[in-house]
Amino acid sequence: MSNFYVEFIQKRRAGGSGQHNHNTIAALLDQKYRSSKALKDHEIAHIMIALLMAGQHTSSAAGSWALLHLANREDDEALYQEQVKHFGDNGEPGKFRPLAYKDLRDLPVLDSVIKETLRVHPPIHSIMRAVRDDIPIPPTLAAPNSKSEGTYIVPKGHVVLASPLFVQMDPAIWKNANKWEPSRWNDPEGVAMMVLKEYTDEGSEKIDFGFGAVSKGTDSPYQPFGAGRHRYIGEQFAYLQLGTILSTLIRKMEFKIPTVVPEHNYHTMITMPKTPRDVHYRRCQFD
Ligand code: HEM
Repeated sequence: MSNFYVEFIQKRRAGGSGQHNHNTIAALLDQKYRSSKALKDHEIAHIMIALLMAGQHTSSAAGSWALLHLANREDDEALYQEQVKHFGDNGEPGKFRPLAYKDLRDLPVLDSVIKETLRVHPPIHSIMRAVRDDIPIPPTLAAPNSKSEGTYIVPKGHVVLASPLFVQMDPAIWKNANKWEPSRWNDPEGVAMMVLKEYTDEGSEKIDFGFGAVSKGTDSPYQPFGAGRHRYIGEQFAYLQLGTILSTLIRKMEFKIPTVVPEHNYHTMITMPKTPRDVHYRRCQFD
């Protein structure tokens, strides 16, 4: 894959491959590091691979998990009725207004289905960081229940791993943690709302990494998009994309699964459902 991109980039530099200036490779060719060095071809290639992985498998995995759960329960009816309420065209069965960006922002059932899917099945289960300098961790954080008074050091050169999946399924935090329960996101007094505030601009500490102030989100036990410097900046885009896909499908089809919701396959980079993962569908019939 790396070679494929490098060859493509080299053709682009040489003026081949068509001269499209408004795309990601063209933009990366113009970028410089802070040291004013330009990006090397293989670096652009690897950024493109990361983009492809980050943008494609995450949303498709999340969409698949949402469909499997909807097909397993009755929530698809609530989702359908929400579409009828907001987009139904003069009450005529099966007729809907086209989706518009502004409409997708105010659909609590759809929103809760996406949030809960990302809680139980965060596409990225582990996030790793190379430690560039020794990091002292005060005893209160490293081992809150220990009597030891020493500061713990995470040594330079080590790799630390944080798992959104682990905290998002922690029974000490979440009621019925293992259960896919979208309605938890509509309870104003519930834990879900509280941790969401810690994750979003509303309640989280802000930090500016050089591209405008963003919420840090590191304290929240809900982190499907990561936290800190590399937190995914297109969160709104992911919601828009998943919302559009689910709304379109739910308007046209009814779903059932022949078995149960599959287990996670942790052997893939992005957490996929294990096979069999069939969903049966039937086109909605309207007279
Ligand atoms: C449901 C959908 C998605 C989820 C759950 C998700 C999750 C994440 C997470 C957890 C990170 C942080 C990784 C880290 O800290 O090391 C991340 C970063 C990133 N995501 Fe996504 N993502 C989604 C969709 C997308 C899409 C659609 C794109 C592109 C079109 C994308 C592009 C990226 C990129 C480029 C980064 C790296 C940012 C950086 O390293 O500074 N993601 N994403």
